[in-house]
Amino acid sequence: MNPFSQNRRGERHLEQILTISAILAVSFTAGASAQENVVPPKIVMPLEDAFRGKFLIGTALSDRALEGRDPLSESLARTHFDAFTPENSMKPEALQRVKGQFTFANADALVKMAEETGATPIGHTLVWHSQTPAWFTHDDAGRLLSRREALQNMRNHIAAVVGRYKGRVKQWDVVNEAVSDSGEAILRDSPWRQAIGDDYIAEAFRAAHKADPDAILTYNDYSNESGPKRNKTLRLLKSLLAQGIPINAVGMQCHWLLRAPLLQEADEAIRLYSALGLKVIISEFDISVLPLGNMGADIAATEAPTPTSNPYTAGLPQDVSQKLADCYGQAFAMFLRHKKDVARVTLWGVHDGTSWRNDFTVRGRTDYPLLFDRQGQPKAAFFAVQKVAQNAR
Ligand code: XIL
Repeated sequence: MNPFSQNRRGERHLEQILTISAILAVSFTAGASAQENVVPPKIVMPLEDAFRGKFLIGTALSDRALEGRDPLSESLARTHFDAFTPENSMKPEALQRVKGQFTFANADALVKMAEETGATPIGHTLVWHSQTPAWFTHDDAGRLLSRREALQNMRNHIAAVVGRYKGRVKQWDVVNEAVSDSGEAILRDSPWRQAIGDDYIAEAFRAAHKADPDAILTYNDYSNESGPKRNKTLRLLKSLLAQGIPINAVGMQCHWLLRAPLLQEADEAIRLYSALGLKVIISEFDISVLPLGNMGADIAATEAPTPTSNPYTAGLPQDVSQKLADCYGQAFAMFLRHKKDVARVTLWGVHDGTSWRNDFTVRGRTDYPLLFDRQGQPKAAFFAVQKVAQNAR
């Protein structure tokens, strides 16, 4: 079976639509006034049905959702999405905070939930500079480990994690965010690179392939739609492919800003990446409606929201909501034009209330980056995406 289209729903499809329209996916046309409350309910088709046969449509599940503490997100995920990425619970700090001590409970819950609903579980992520305990690359005194020791830590982690889910998790983000944002250097000077050397990326892919030779292995990054970072990424991927490294796909996170969506850039990037023979995955899609805020990492962590940086605490104005819907519609129309090459589009979160963008780049703001609102109701953006999917049938 092709793991990109792994989906065992088939015959339960009709039954599911009927149940869903009865329980939760019924909504009322937005904007109806009190006098007009006879507006007929809209029956909402699950997103995964709208995109069936095109590409997988995924969501990211938080630890709370995986621990059974967010029933709203869980039910939306089960209803609308056929790929589940753990938002945090398969990151190195979640799985192996202390060397040799693994915590798999939430990762197991994600795989189980995916299997129950016929969704594809996605492994995210094995090798990254962030959310990774220092012991992987440094000793207790903060000194860099030798290449041999750091490689061993990386290989052990990958063998244990990929090995545990062999044949069940068939897609892995093997290396995350390895390309540098600025300057001439292709690679970010991450702890992994410092300890092992530039070939840490190749070694990570080799180790993942060894642990599960049938898994789809992805290189995942942000801001790789355009500019020098896209060029660097293309050079990195070409070099990995030329060395015969087992890499199957490139992930474009696509954390966009409504102020500056990267439609044409992403369109071109998908063309360029797929010309290398790789599948393209839109791996963490969301569109923030807020001003960028201060990107400086230290400031971002402490900067308090202000009326200028956090303008929509009382709700999203209709014109902005419509602009967001238009942008989502255009993006999905573009992804659908590339459906031969795009294997999956994953939204980074289930509904606006739990999106990481409420806290990035400024903590404690009110953002509206996803398809469902804080009550779990489908937004104008949801209907725009649905319409595009219908038109593509
Ligand atoms: C984010 C999560 O959404 C947050 O909950 C967490 O605090 C930080 O990480 N790129 C990635 C994702 O690859 O793993 C990140 O997820 C967002 C940016």
